[in-house]
Amino acid sequence: MKRSGLPFIGGVGAMAVTLVLASCSGEEKKTETTDKQKEELVLIHSHAQPAESKVTHLSWDADVDFEKKQLRATATYELENAPDADRFILDVRNLNIETVSVDGEPTDKWWLGEGGDYFGQGLEVEIKPTTKQVSISYSTNPDAQALQWLNPQQTAGKEHPFLFTQSQAILARTWIPIQDSPGIRYTYDAHVSVPSGLMALMSASNPTEIDSTGEYDFKMEQPIPSYLMALAVGELRFQSIGDETGVYAEPSVLEAAAYEFEDMQKMLESAEEIYGAYAWERYDVLVLPPSFPFGGMENPRLTFATPTILAGDKSLTALIAHELAHSWSGNLVTNRTWNDFWLNEGFTVYFERRIMEAVYGKDYTAMLQVLGRQDLMKTLGELGEDSEDTHLKLDLDNRDPDDGMTDIAYEKGNAFLMMLEEAVGREAFDAFLNKHFEENAFKTTNTEEFVQRIKQDLLKNDAERYAELKIDDWIYGPGLPENAVKVESDAFSKVEANMEAWMVNDDLSAMDPTGWTTHHWLHFLRNLPDSITLAQMQQLDRAFGFTETGNSEIAAEWYVLALEQGYAPADDAIDAFLVDVGRRKFLVPIYSAMVEADPTLARARAVYAQARNNYHSVSVHTLDELLKWDEYDAES
Ligand code: BES
Ligand code: ZN
Repeated sequence: MKRSGLPFIGGVGAMAVTLVLASCSGEEKKTETTDKQKEELVLIHSHAQPAESKVTHLSWDADVDFEKKQLRATATYELENAPDADRFILDVRNLNIETVSVDGEPTDKWWLGEGGDYFGQGLEVEIKPTTKQVSISYSTNPDAQALQWLNPQQTAGKEHPFLFTQSQAILARTWIPIQDSPGIRYTYDAHVSVPSGLMALMSASNPTEIDSTGEYDFKMEQPIPSYLMALAVGELRFQSIGDETGVYAEPSVLEAAAYEFEDMQKMLESAEEIYGAYAWERYDVLVLPPSFPFGGMENPRLTFATPTILAGDKSLTALIAHELAHSWSGNLVTNRTWNDFWLNEGFTVYFERRIMEAVYGKDYTAMLQVLGRQDLMKTLGELGEDSEDTHLKLDLDNRDPDDGMTDIAYEKGNAFLMMLEEAVGREAFDAFLNKHFEENAFKTTNTEEFVQRIKQDLLKNDAERYAELKIDDWIYGPGLPENAVKVESDAFSKVEANMEAWMVNDDLSAMDPTGWTTHHWLHFLRNLPDSITLAQMQQLDRAFGFTETGNSEIAAEWYVLALEQGYAPADDAIDAFLVDVGRRKFLVPIYSAMVEADPTLARARAVYAQARNNYHSVSVHTLDELLKWDEYDAES
């Protein structure tokens, strides 16, 4: 079904919009929108036209069918319409739309626009200005990009299947027809049916026990953008940590997870002390199977996390502080478009480190800052100092947002906020950020508005100061401006001294790594000289057991080094890691090092062939490109 002349091909660009507003006398009056309103109406990466008709509430009723790897669902939308609205437009991608009704009446007045790969299609439904409700019945396809359907073998328990979603950035449209822009918020409720014996969880109020009927109800009463829609289904258990915090995991993982995340309640309380009341009632973490493509995802009320942070010693829990911090930066005050992604991630890294400082102290946090800065310098090197992708304000129009979201938003964003903090002092900066969160709660903001706030609120319109701090260079320019705050760690200086002693004496016993944590080891591994010999690699491995380590961060760092140096004793462990773990942050450097070591791609493709089925589409998308999988697939 296609309606001719739909303006649907390509992105929805900026356009001046005239809103028709009803005046008090009942007469219609045309008013030009203000610049601010126009800005808010500019959507990229979405077909929606919220100025005409916008979703305010979603009721989602779904059946989870593991046999067919399919969701069959009805989505009912409550609408807010402009006085002259005649259409409601949603984003869809790879969905089977079955029936549509408007205010309870079935209709065939709906159309799918031209298709675009990552961008999907617009689904337009004819409505009247008075239409209250639209309802859509549909099903997903087994390869729906947001969903990963795991067979029992791919779980910890090996007995039950598992399903999880990953919606950020624009994958929500592959499992729910939705106005898929971070600029559009709505509340939701859901009813989900799953096979008996499994638990369903969402980014909403959640059960704490398995219901033998397999029927679950959810409510999200705070308005959220679509990229925070989330669902997970599996054999899950809950364990409480503090009054507002707890953890969900498969039974065999639960105890380790509860131990690892013991400090979660403290983190939550520290965060509230810094930026004000937590807006989402509960904060729980769900530990997923190892194929989860990210470290963590800040789904409201329920962070989704990789099991690769279960190091056994709480050393990787900065990730929990990070996802928790998103409850303010991102979930409460949201980037208006993906071009403003640094407002989500840069703020969150800054806040994550403030939480870590409050809970674990300054020395601990200094190590995180130095490691973060090392990541940033590496990314700058890879992208090139002049790359536009190193600007804080991105230009992702007409690009898959996933391709432009790099470490820059995180670490350059954090460095920018650290610079501002140093310039005005922590007290003034905290007051400024508190006001920012308070005034923009449950709203979106963009880079230009934030810059405006820096000018007025933080710098009190002191233009000289503004120039001196190089704010425009930070935001609209490449690289890392020279007024970045230097980050240093005494603990790391000691690591360097130890390394030096070992190298000079060519004797490992000259090193004393007593008390070293993951961070010390990461710094050590990252700073080994290129001239390291295979004999020295072996010495290290024998002494510290890197190849067999259960710590994913250390393993990933060591495996890259092993591939760079041609250290063969790690080969089997590397292959096993790649088949087991689907976290993209680890996969990309390891596969890249394999490609460097064997540019024919043969080695990397041989492992990838075994591992690919274990990965979520997000990781597959990146690795298919890296390993030119289309060509290989066509040949074999
Ligand atoms: N929101 C991100 C994950 C994300 C970003 C998903 C962009 C899709 C598109 C999440 O908060 C995040 O940043 N995760 C990091 C961990 C963090 C400690 C830097 C990750 O997954 O590695
Ligand atoms: Zn984040």
